[in-house]
Amino acid sequence: MRSGLACAAVEMLSAATCRSRPRLCSLLLAPLTKTVPPTWTTGSFRCRSTSSMQGFSELARERSKTVTSFYNQSAIDISAEKASVRLTLATLLYSGKSPDGHHILSSAKYLHKELPVRIAHRIKGFRSLPFIIGCNPTILQVHELYIRAYHMLSDFPQIEDQDVEARFCKLVQQLLDDHKDVVTMLAQGFKECRKHMTDEAVLRSFLDSTLCSRLGIRMLATHHLALHEDNPDFVGIICRRLSPKKIIEKWVDFARRLCEHQYGNSPRVRINGHVAARFPFIPLPLDYILPELLKNAMRATMESHLNTPYNVPDVIITIANNDIDFVIRISDRGGGIPHNIVDKVMDYHFSTAEESAQDPRMSSLFDNITNSGNQSNPMHGFGFGLPTSRAYAEYLGGSLSIQSMQGIGTDVYLRLRHIDGKGESFRV
Ligand SMILES: Nc1ncnc2c1ncn2[C@@H]1O[C@H](COP(=O)(O)OP(=O)(O)O)[C@@H](O)[C@H]1O
Ligand SMILES: [Mg+2]
Repeated sequence: MRSGLACAAVEMLSAATCRSRPRLCSLLLAPLTKTVPPTWTTGSFRCRSTSSMQGFSELARERSKTVTSFYNQSAIDISAEKASVRLTLATLLYSGKSPDGHHILSSAKYLHKELPVRIAHRIKGFRSLPFIIGCNPTILQVHELYIRAYHMLSDFPQIEDQDVEARFCKLVQQLLDDHKDVVTMLAQGFKECRKHMTDEAVLRSFLDSTLCSRLGIRMLATHHLALHEDNPDFVGIICRRLSPKKIIEKWVDFARRLCEHQYGNSPRVRINGHVAARFPFIPLPLDYILPELLKNAMRATMESHLNTPYNVPDVIITIANNDIDFVIRISDRGGGIPHNIVDKVMDYHFSTAEESAQDPRMSSLFDNITNSGNQSNPMHGFGFGLPTSRAYAEYLGGSLSIQSMQGIGTDVYLRLRHIDGKGESFRV
């Protein structure tokens, strides 16, 4: 049922792009021998008229433009050779506010120079994928999004005054919106062509670098837009006094609602340790990682207690803060991760979701969800939660590790470095 929905989503995606404009995928995937394609009208077959022939050659011209934009990329190649300039968060935090708004212009100039370089590195990554993978329509669609973003940013004029800067902000916001579904699209695209991927390490390295670079770009872009807002608790996206307990509570509420919707009940969550801790940090990566870890803990708890869904053990979260980093441990009593899969759970696309769906006690729950048409924010998905969270934590100079006590439950440790701690600060 679920994979059917996923296929339908991919078909919709491909159909939507093919409708919007001719693409390289259609050129590559269309039968190349058909020079003058026949046109079907209702039930009858006829040759193309002169005007439709003209239309066809326009179409072919347009298609070749798209191909040119893919292969004539000297500008992209030059940018891809440049090194990316990663800033420490301390630099972002202490670059301060200037009364004349000078810091906003400097930030825009930095982004205008830096984003095309980072995007060019990603495009190089797409071009290095095995041909058959790169031709997958969904992956190709993401590749095209990056090429379009590259051109839009590098065609943008120098930013010398506030008016141009305001237009630049609109462009940045538009690109953030255009790229918001990229993780799901990559998860879906690679799932479709995974069988052609012989080297697992190639997939991991491509996804780790693409997803982390995307996180970095989004943090910088959102930071710049947020510099315009006047919020005394924030400098851009950096919260001056982030409370780990508060942000955990926000995502506990979210995960419990989702869990109740799916399983009819959810475990209670108790938070202990340094509950009063507050320090400067960026909520954005936590907003991705925490819901993933909480959904996993709640799902394991519910699925290991399917016979007693109204009497399930609590999930315990412990916060430890020190002057180098902070640690969030999520402990569940969901039975642990079986020995035979514990080494695989960090692999992209590894998920036991389908096995759960086979459990007769689960099938009624899954039917309810499918029938209610609520496919958004499922408790589990593409097997991207753990590998992506680990990649993000490592990108930010931290780590994500798992201890499974088979038969009892699982402890997940998320460790993140402080922005202004004693240790070296990470770079974005
Ligand atoms: N706390 C946990 N307890 C037991 N198994 C877990 C836990 N967290 C993750 N897993 C296992 O790891 C797999 C991968 O998790 P994840 O990467 O989040 O993908 P997904 O949730 O989409 O399956 C899950 O399908 C599940 O089998
Ligand atoms: Mg998950």
